[in-house]
Amino acid sequence: MIRLSYASTAIKEFSPENLLALLKTCRTNNGVKNITGILLYSHDTFFQVLEGDEATVESTFESIKKDKRHKDVTLIEKLPITERAFPYWSMGFEKLGSKELSEMEGLNNFFENDFTPAGFAAHKHIIGPLLAHLRSKLVKQVTVESHEELPMQHEDPFIQLLHRTIRLGVKFLALLMVMVILFGIIDVVYVIFEKITQPPFMLLTINDMLETFGAFLAVLIAIEIFLNITLYIRSDVIPVKLVVATALMAISRKVIVFDYKHLPAEYVSASALVLVALGITYWLVQKKE
Ligand SMILES: Cc1cc2nc3c(=O)[nH]c(=O)nc-3n(C[C@H](O)[C@H](O)[C@H](O)COP(=O)(O)O)c2cc1C
Repeated sequence: MIRLSYASTAIKEFSPENLLALLKTCRTNNGVKNITGILLYSHDTFFQVLEGDEATVESTFESIKKDKRHKDVTLIEKLPITERAFPYWSMGFEKLGSKELSEMEGLNNFFENDFTPAGFAAHKHIIGPLLAHLRSKLVKQVTVESHEELPMQHEDPFIQLLHRTIRLGVKFLALLMVMVILFGIIDVVYVIFEKITQPPFMLLTINDMLETFGAFLAVLIAIEIFLNITLYIRSDVIPVKLVVATALMAISRKVIVFDYKHLPAEYVSASALVLVALGITYWLVQKKE
């Protein structure tokens, strides 16, 4: 087996559609030929790694060289390998933006000045770190994509049956939650109706308004919980942010209807502390995204 890498310049900028079409060809052809690798596109420059049987990689590279969509096709490296760096990708793809390029450790200067076929040829030492970076990025994507809380497919049929049962249970909970939301809406209407039909008629006092807000927020919390439930049956999502948001809303709801004259100071302080902790958590989760 060999690993061959080259860089080239696009004749004209590749639109997302053109890139997608190119990738489709690569993946179909390479899948048949058992070629794996990665294609990088940035600043009108392609950098591609092809791995596989020597003769197959060579002949594919020959047809790539003849492709009229790019020029200055420059061979960067060709070496024998015993193991593939991109075993799962018939052609992994990365369209790197300037921000990401400048953040790559040890590679930022290269990308600023030399992201061209000639630059790649002159700085072969960056190939190693670059491949390591791309590989870890692709591996991360695969692990995120394959994260599934309750997979429908499982090698053990009994576990699979259990997962299906839990999924059904979650769907039932979601249905119940919709009913709770509907009842909550009816409650909001009822609270408003009750307040305006009591003296003073057609007027809401501050206390009435606070109680009405409480009823509104209860419905919003129910909707958040519904979203939490449904997210559970989706793959790839751990709804940390939503859970924190729901908790924030629930505690805010309490704060809005606090009766400060009768509540002990410790209770109010503890609630404030929880609110601050949740706020910081939400901010951190948001920042990470
Ligand atoms: C930057 C670039 C990378 C390419 N990479 C591959 C590749 O990995 N595999 C492949 O079969 N074709 C690749 N191609 C396309 C080939 O040049 C050629 O169009 C294709 O192999 C023809 O396939 P077809 O006969 O199925 O149309 C690439 C083209 C460009 C411009």
